[in-house]
Amino acid sequence: MKFEIIAVLSAYLAVANAHDGPHAFRGRHANIARQVTASASAASSATSSAPSAASSGATPASAASVSAPTVPAAVTTPDSVTISLPTGPSGIPPLISLTSGMPSGSTLPLSQTFAAGAEPSYSGAPPLPSAFMFVQGQWPTMDVVAPTNSSQVQQWMQELEGVDIPDLQPTQDGDCATDPAFALDGQNRGWWTCGGWTRDTDIVQCPDKLTWGVSFDDGPSPYTQTLLNFLDEKELKATFFVVGSRVIERPQVLVEEYMQGHEISVHTWSHHALTSLTNEQIVAELGWTREAIKTVLGVTPTTMRPPFGDIDDRVRAISLAMGLTPIIWTSTPSGIKFDTNDWRVAGGQFTGPESFQSFEEILGNATTLNNGFIVLEHDLFEITVDMAIGYTLNAAMTHEPPFTLEPIGVCNKIPTTDMYQETTTNKTYLAARQKALSNVNSTTSTGSSSGSGSGSGGVNKSGAMQSFAMVSLPVLSAVAAAGFALLI
Ligand SMILES: *[C@@H]1O[C@H](CO)[C@@H](O)[C@H](O)[C@H]1NC(C)=O
Ligand SMILES: *[C@@H]1O[C@H](CO)[C@@H](O)[C@H](O)[C@H]1NC(C)=O
Ligand SMILES: *[C@@H]1O[C@H](CO)[C@@H](O)[C@H](O)[C@H]1NC(C)=O
Ligand SMILES: *[C@@H]1O[C@H](CO)[C@@H](O)[C@H](O)[C@H]1NC(C)=O
Ligand SMILES: *[C@@H]1O[C@H](CO)[C@@H](O)[C@H](O)[C@H]1NC(C)=O
Repeated sequence: MKFEIIAVLSAYLAVANAHDGPHAFRGRHANIARQVTASASAASSATSSAPSAASSGATPASAASVSAPTVPAAVTTPDSVTISLPTGPSGIPPLISLTSGMPSGSTLPLSQTFAAGAEPSYSGAPPLPSAFMFVQGQWPTMDVVAPTNSSQVQQWMQELEGVDIPDLQPTQDGDCATDPAFALDGQNRGWWTCGGWTRDTDIVQCPDKLTWGVSFDDGPSPYTQTLLNFLDEKELKATFFVVGSRVIERPQVLVEEYMQGHEISVHTWSHHALTSLTNEQIVAELGWTREAIKTVLGVTPTTMRPPFGDIDDRVRAISLAMGLTPIIWTSTPSGIKFDTNDWRVAGGQFTGPESFQSFEEILGNATTLNNGFIVLEHDLFEITVDMAIGYTLNAAMTHEPPFTLEPIGVCNKIPTTDMYQETTTNKTYLAARQKALSNVNSTTSTGSSSGSGSGSGGVNKSGAMQSFAMVSLPVLSAVAAAGFALLI
C-alpha cells in the first residue's frame, strides 16, 4: 500500500515541526512505499540546504554550532511541492514527521539476558564473563578524552614500540577549514576527512557488487534495543561501532548485540576527532574502549572506526599497532561519501525526507559500483533508529536489483573468529600482535614519538586511576543536549 501525500510546503513544515505529531502515527499499520518522488524543485532545495560542513565532514566544533535547529529548506523552496512519501511500518512515524524535536517514544527492555558462561554462536568463542559491574574509579570520565597519565595507558603505549608512527602534527579539530594547510596536504597525510584519502590497510567497502555492509555507530543507546529487535525479526546482522562511554553505561545491550551474532568494533572512548589528539590520547581513546568491550564480552575487537571518519596516517599507524584495522564508509570514484545524514536529522539540519533522499542516492550510486559498499548510520538517537527501521533497511531490502545486507566482516569474508583478538587464527595478525605485546612490560620508556602528551615520568600503578573523577552515569539526553560532538 502506498500513501500519496499531497503537501503544501507550509503544511509540510508545520507537520515536520509539530510536536504532537508522531505519537498519533505510532501503531498505524502500513507497508512501506519505497520511492520518494519529490518534484525537481523540492529535490534541488534539499541539495541546496545541505550544510557546507557536509564537504568537510562534521567536526565537534562545526556540529555544535548547529544546535539551534533550523529548516533551511524554508528559504529556498517554492510555495508548494508534491511529494509521494513512504509511510513507515508499524510503530514508525511517517518520514515527513521525523524531525528534530519530535516527542520521543518508548524505549524497550532487553529482549534476552545472558548468564555468565553463555556460549556465543561462533566456534571457539570464549564464554561470556560474569555480568559487568561498574566500579567507581576504574574507568575514565565518560565522554571526555581519556586521560593519558594512567598506568594502563602507559602500558598500552608500549604496543607502539618499534612501529613507525608518522610524525604528523595533530590537527586542531579534525576539520579541513580549520587546518587549510593540512587539508591541502591531505593526500600525503592520508587524511580521509579532507579528500577522502584511504590506504590499502583500510576496509572501505564490501568486495561483492550489490552487497551492503550494514553498520551502526555510537551506541549502545536507549534506542539500540528497538533496532536489535527489528534486525532479529528480519534475520539481519550488522556491525556495531560502539563508544566505550556507552558500553559501560549499557553493558547488557552490548551483550545482546554480540550474542545475537552482530559484530562489535571499537569507536573510541569519547568520540572526538582522532587526528586532533596526541599519540597518547589516541592510545587512551582506543585502549579504554578495547578494555570496556573485553571486560563486558570477554573478547577484544580487531577493528575500529574513527569518529567522523577522521583518520590520517598517524591515527592509522597507532590503530594498527594496537591491533585495530580501520573501517570507514564507502566513497564513490567521484568522491561521494556514503553518509545517510541521519545524524543531521537528529541535529535539525536535515528533514527525514532529505535524509532518505540521501540514502536513495546512495543506493542509486551503489548499483553503479563494481563492488559492494558501506554506509554511515547511527543507533544513537530515536530518529536515526526510526530512519533505519522504517526506511533505509526496508528500501535496501525491497530494492530492484536486490541488495545483500551483511555485517562488514562477513561481507569482507573475514571469519567471525578473526573479528576478535582472542579467537583470531590469522597468522599475519597474530605475528604483528605478538610483536606489539612483547614490548609491553619489557620496556621502561613510554615510546612517545610525537604530539604533546604527558607520558613521561614514573607511573604509580596502584593509585593511577584513583584520581580520575568519575561522574555519575549521565543520561543520554544530557549527552544529546551537550551538542552533537558525539555524532558520526
Ligand atoms: C549519486 O549521488 C548523487 C548525489 O550525491 C546524485 O546526484 C546522483 O543522482 C546519484 N546517482 C544515482 C545513479 O543515483
Ligand atoms: C590477516 O590479517 C592481516 C592484518 O590484519 C590482513 O591484512 C589480512 O587481510 C588478513 N588475512 C586474512 C586471510 O584474513
Ligand atoms: C604486564 O604486566 C601486568 C601487571 O604486572 C600484567 O597484568 C599483564 O598481563 C602484563 N602484560 C603482558 C603483555 O605480559
Ligand atoms: C601510589 O599511589 C597510592 C595511592 O594514591 C599511594 O598510597 C602510594 O603512596 C603511591 N606510591 C608511590 C610510590 O608513590
Ligand atoms: C593525571 O592528570 C590529571 C590532570 O593533570 C591529574 O589531576 C591527575 O592527578 C593525574 N593522575 C595521575 C595518576 O597522575
